[in-house]
Amino acid sequence: MIETSNLTKHFGSLVALDSLTLSIGPGEVFGFIGPNGAGKTTTMRILSCLTRPDAGTAKVCGFDTRTHGDDIRKCIGYMPDFLGVYDDLTVDEYLQFFASAYGIARRARATIIGQVLELTDLTQKRHSLVDGLSRGMQQRLGVARVLVHDPKVLLLDEPASGLDPRARIEMRSLLIELARMGKTLMVSSHILSELGEMSTSIGIIERGKLLYAGSVTDAFARAKTSATQGDRIVVKLATSGATPSTIKQALETDHRVLKATANDEQRTLTVDLTTGEHEHHFLLERIIACQGRIESFQPEVVKLEDAFLRLTTGALQ
Ligand SMILES: Nc1ncnc2c1ncn2[C@@H]1O[C@H](COP(=O)(O)OP(=O)(O)OP(=O)(O)O)[C@@H](O)[C@H]1O
Ligand SMILES: [Mg+2]
Repeated sequence: MIETSNLTKHFGSLVALDSLTLSIGPGEVFGFIGPNGAGKTTTMRILSCLTRPDAGTAKVCGFDTRTHGDDIRKCIGYMPDFLGVYDDLTVDEYLQFFASAYGIARRARATIIGQVLELTDLTQKRHSLVDGLSRGMQQRLGVARVLVHDPKVLLLDEPASGLDPRARIEMRSLLIELARMGKTLMVSSHILSELGEMSTSIGIIERGKLLYAGSVTDAFARAKTSATQGDRIVVKLATSGATPSTIKQALETDHRVLKATANDEQRTLTVDLTTGEHEHHFLLERIIACQGRIESFQPEVVKLEDAFLRLTTGALQ
C-alpha cells in the first residue's frame, strides 16, 4: 500500500530524508518512530503529495506521488500534526466542509458524518464549536475528518501527541478499531512504547535515515536481549573513603567490569558490568576492599526505549 525507494529530501543544506526505503503492506499498522526533526512529517507529506522529493520514488496504492496525485488523494487520509481549525465552525459544519471538498453527495453526507462521529465518539459534540473542544476531542475530530471519504490508507502524524493518559488509551482503541476495519495505517510517534503494542511493524527513523524496520516482536526481542547484556550500576561514595578514580583503576583490571567512569567531584562511580545481577555482589565487595565507603548503590533500570535506541544506533554503525 505504501512503498518508498531511496526517498531523499533536502531543505537547503539540511538532509531531511536520506535514501529512505520502506514498504507497508495492506492491513498493516506501521508505527513510524523517531525523535524531533527525524523526518516523519516530511515522509508523510511526500506520501500525501504535499511535498516533492528531490530523489527516489514514493508510491501509495500503487500510484506514483509525482504523477498520480489525484488518485492518491482519493485513497488516503492524511491527518497532519496540527488540526487546522476555522473559527466559529461546529463539529458538524467542519465535517460537512470536508465531505463536500471530497465530492461526497449532499444526500450521503449526513449518514457518513453520523458514522464517523459515532466511531470517534464525538456524537455528543456534533453541534459544539471545534475551537471549544479539548485537545483529545480535537485529535479524534482530526481522525473523523480523514475518514469521511473512506480511504484505504491513513497517514496519521502523531495522533496521540499532547493527550493525557486516558485520551491516549482512547486514541489507541480508535486506531485499533480502524485497523480492524481493514485500513492500512501509518502512525508516527516519538515513543516506541506508545505504538509498540498496536503496530504490526515499525520503522525507526533518525536524522532522515531508517535505522530499523521490521516486526514489533523482533524489535522487542532484540531490545530486551540488549537490555540484559550487562547492568550499569551507579555508586555514590562518601568523602571519607577512597576516591572514585582510585577504585575505578582497581575495578578495570577485572574481566567482570566492562567499563568504569569516575567523577571525584561528585563522588560517583558508574560501572558497566559484563553481565547482570550475579555480579553486583562482587562489585560491592571490591569497592569495600578498596576502602570505598558506599553511600548508595543503584542498578540503573534500562528502559526498553533506551535499549531500543541503543540497539538501532548500534545497528547503524
Ligand atoms: N519546510 C521546511 N523548510 C526547512 N526545513 C524543513 C522544512 N520542513 C522540515 N524541515 C526540516 O527537516 C527535518 C525533518 O523535519 P520533519 O518535520 O520531517 O521531522 P519530524 O520527524 O516530523 O519531527 P517532529 O517529531 O518534530 O514532528 C528537520 O530538521 C526540519 O527542521
Ligand atoms: Mg513531525
